[in-house]
Amino acid sequence: MKYDKHPRRALDPIETASIDELRALQLVRMQWSIAHAYNNVPAYKKLCDENGVHPFELKQLDDLQRFPFTTKAYLRDAYPFNSFAVPMTDVVRVHASSGTTGKPTVVGYTQNDINVWADVVARSIRAAGGHAGDKVHISYGYGLFTGGMGAHYGAERLGCTVIPMSGGQTEKQVQLMNDFDPDIIMVTPSYMLNIIDEIERQGLDPHKMALRCGIFGAEPWTDEMRKNIENRLGIDAVDIYGLSEVMGPGVAMECIETKDGPTIWEDHFYPEIIDPNTGEVLPDGEYGELVFTSLTKEALPIIRYRTRDLTRLLPGTARPMRRIDKITGRSDDMMIIRGVNVFPTQIEEQILKIPALAPHYEIVVAKQGNLDTVLVKVELTAEAAGARQEQSAKELAHHIKAVVGISTQIEILPPGTIPRSEGKAKRVFDNRPKVK
Ligand code: DLL
Repeated sequence: MKYDKHPRRALDPIETASIDELRALQLVRMQWSIAHAYNNVPAYKKLCDENGVHPFELKQLDDLQRFPFTTKAYLRDAYPFNSFAVPMTDVVRVHASSGTTGKPTVVGYTQNDINVWADVVARSIRAAGGHAGDKVHISYGYGLFTGGMGAHYGAERLGCTVIPMSGGQTEKQVQLMNDFDPDIIMVTPSYMLNIIDEIERQGLDPHKMALRCGIFGAEPWTDEMRKNIENRLGIDAVDIYGLSEVMGPGVAMECIETKDGPTIWEDHFYPEIIDPNTGEVLPDGEYGELVFTSLTKEALPIIRYRTRDLTRLLPGTARPMRRIDKITGRSDDMMIIRGVNVFPTQIEEQILKIPALAPHYEIVVAKQGNLDTVLVKVELTAEAAGARQEQSAKELAHHIKAVVGISTQIEILPPGTIPRSEGKAKRVFDNRPKVK
């Protein structure tokens, strides 16, 4: 690996503060944030009033549990700008999350919010070993999606040279990577796979490129995928997490020296894990749904927002702040197959354990009579093309049955046949009739 030992800019003081200092800061900020939302967002005041709770009841961090959750529906009902806590004249930017149907979820930022966002993304790139003078190639999409511009402002803030490539034009991506010699790439892991294919197609040797680190996020990916990308590119691959409603990329970032799950930048975002069915707060270490409270956001304070992302909270390692485990998936992505809960990442893990199979796959779920059926379509690697198809299919079905607990049909395809992603990959096609 080309992990750069270049002396790094000092960490932000809060990144090394004691847990006591951090908790004290969080309490003061949380009191401000809840009062700010209550006093300035009528919909949030109404929600609190209906639940019989008032900001002055927040005397310690645990008191947060008295407050109601907010959800995507809360933001949708406030469409487009009614969740904002500042006059529109103070909002310098809006983004919106994709949402395939209906209205998008709109989020807003004051100038101060943009500055904080740039700071946490700069901190994130630094946690990935980045520093002033690095060239950062950004292939997250620019536009209403927060990925491109979020990464862009953070990289500039750190003093990097930004190559604002955005998503798409894969051939050109590779040409520029070859000519401009970026040190770091920021992109979804699935689009990175697509770019690697193109690098190979152009006959270039990725190990000869200057690139030393990839900052991957915006979709779930596994440690097996990390190894696959690291080996093929000769780089370090680290995980960046975030969501538009809470800020964008940079809510949490994996540190390169430990690669053990993203550290939550807890001075700005307060995490909880809840049981998604009962709403009960779970102790650190237990799996459940991640919930965030923003501590400093001005335009769109968000209190106890249910992310639908499933993970657990882990103690700090490279930093005192807590980490999240790699996201297993969103509760919406969970497939229930004959009563068994299955996430696409569990299938990905098994695919990547078989050397002849490439990390390009689709999962097609259907119903035959009363029975759920699962078809996993997966490509052979270029090296394995033509050979060992039946053996690989058998092996994969066996591993999935043994580890995930479901029977699957496997279809092995030649290299290059599964559609490629240019942003967030769509891998699951659930063709079962919708039950109301
Ligand atoms: O995806 C923000 C982002 C951009 C994060 C670039 C990282 C890099 P949204 O479009 O609002 O925002 O989607 C947020 O994407 O709730 C997760 O389900 C998923 N997600 C984001 N990062 C990760 C990650 C951006 N590292 C939703 N691992 C979140 C797994 C992730 N899932």
